[in-house]
Amino acid sequence: MTTRYRVEYALKSHRRDQLIEWIKGLLAVPFVLHSQPNAVYQEHSESLIEVAANTHQRYAEIMRDVEKLILDHIEHQRINAPGKSKLKLLVPSVGSFFTSLYLEDAFKYQDAQRFISRRRFVAPSFNDIRLILNSAQLLGLVRQHGLDLVTFDGDVTLYDDGSNLTDDNPVIPRIIRLLKKGRKVAIVTAAGYTEAPKYYGRLKGLMDSLHTSPQLTEHQKHGLIVMGGESNFLFCYDPTSPDLLTYVPRSEWVLDEMTLWKEDDITELLDIAESSLRACAANLNLPAAVLRKDRAVGVYPINGSKISREQLEETVLVVQNTVEGSAVGSRLPFCAFNGGRDVFVDIGDKSWGVRACQQYFGGIERTRTLHVGDQFLSAGANDFKARLASTTAWITSPAETVQLLDELEDLESGNRS
Ligand code: IMP
Ligand code: MG
Repeated sequence: MTTRYRVEYALKSHRRDQLIEWIKGLLAVPFVLHSQPNAVYQEHSESLIEVAANTHQRYAEIMRDVEKLILDHIEHQRINAPGKSKLKLLVPSVGSFFTSLYLEDAFKYQDAQRFISRRRFVAPSFNDIRLILNSAQLLGLVRQHGLDLVTFDGDVTLYDDGSNLTDDNPVIPRIIRLLKKGRKVAIVTAAGYTEAPKYYGRLKGLMDSLHTSPQLTEHQKHGLIVMGGESNFLFCYDPTSPDLLTYVPRSEWVLDEMTLWKEDDITELLDIAESSLRACAANLNLPAAVLRKDRAVGVYPINGSKISREQLEETVLVVQNTVEGSAVGSRLPFCAFNGGRDVFVDIGDKSWGVRACQQYFGGIERTRTLHVGDQFLSAGANDFKARLASTTAWITSPAETVQLLDELEDLESGNRS
């Protein structure tokens, strides 16, 4: 018989981030003990402020303890025993950390923005903790290692899902500011095209602004690249091309391990994924068509219809399981993900994409790289794999990306410590 636990696991595990859920659980205790609504006669403002200060103190202490557990986990990574850390026992799915996370300071910053400890009816949420982790990561980069490369996902991170990066997008001056500081920037997107005009079409606002920017030297302008299809097609800035981008031949940028990916295996993996997608589309009666590309295969909605979230999730989990279970699926890295409106399977994944960008720019360290994206759930999400190659920030909209870049600027210019 299927246990309740298995049902819960099967239904939910792919939609939860275990570390965030665990921290949320820790903060729920002081929330219940200290913050929850008092009797009406106690509701005068003095006691409210006292309660908030007390709660702030308790939350900050918990974040400091988690910060220490992460330090201990990093120490275990260093001596090659990450599996033995206390954090790993408490949160088995936890991965590697490339910098310390200054969670206590990050909490204090986010509490001042979001008034988390003043709330008495709504406990610290997934979004509160996600944003605290982002702030803690920025602090880790700025205080410990410095930042040389920022990689951005495209859809939802730089522009709305399926839209283009137009010249009024507020992220453009922020990207130019990164380049002006001598940093490198890469857009690491699943969108996989082999021709420059397609990327120019999607990124026109950014490419035109970069090209005409009086603030940037030619050298700084060449600090922007585009990695498409997760890790399959690289384009660099080219002022002589009408598309301002030029395809970089694979031989000039692939990692050594990627040269071992065989064309026969790529075809075989995509064949398996395609038949699984077709079977799923038939089974769920999806209003969708299958699109086979060089290095990817996907299903997308047709005739103005919409595939429901449940259908997208089912499809991505089915195709992921099918390919994982195949022989070629264990030889070749691939990424199956829910793109919000469609489902795609790509050869390679963003860990390869980010690492290739690091190598292209002369070997930038993981500790000095930040990937910003919106898809960090463990299954069916394509930014998740970037965690193997760099530090990460998990945003949920293009506006949050802008906020994150401004927070970085404030930190570096000393407006905040
Ligand atoms: P991202 O968020 O920038 O990684 O872009 C993901 C979206 O790109 C997907 O949801 C698709 O709509 C679109 N896309 C276009 N071509 C491809 C491809 O070859 N592989 C995966 N996604 C693609
Ligand atoms: Mg995205």
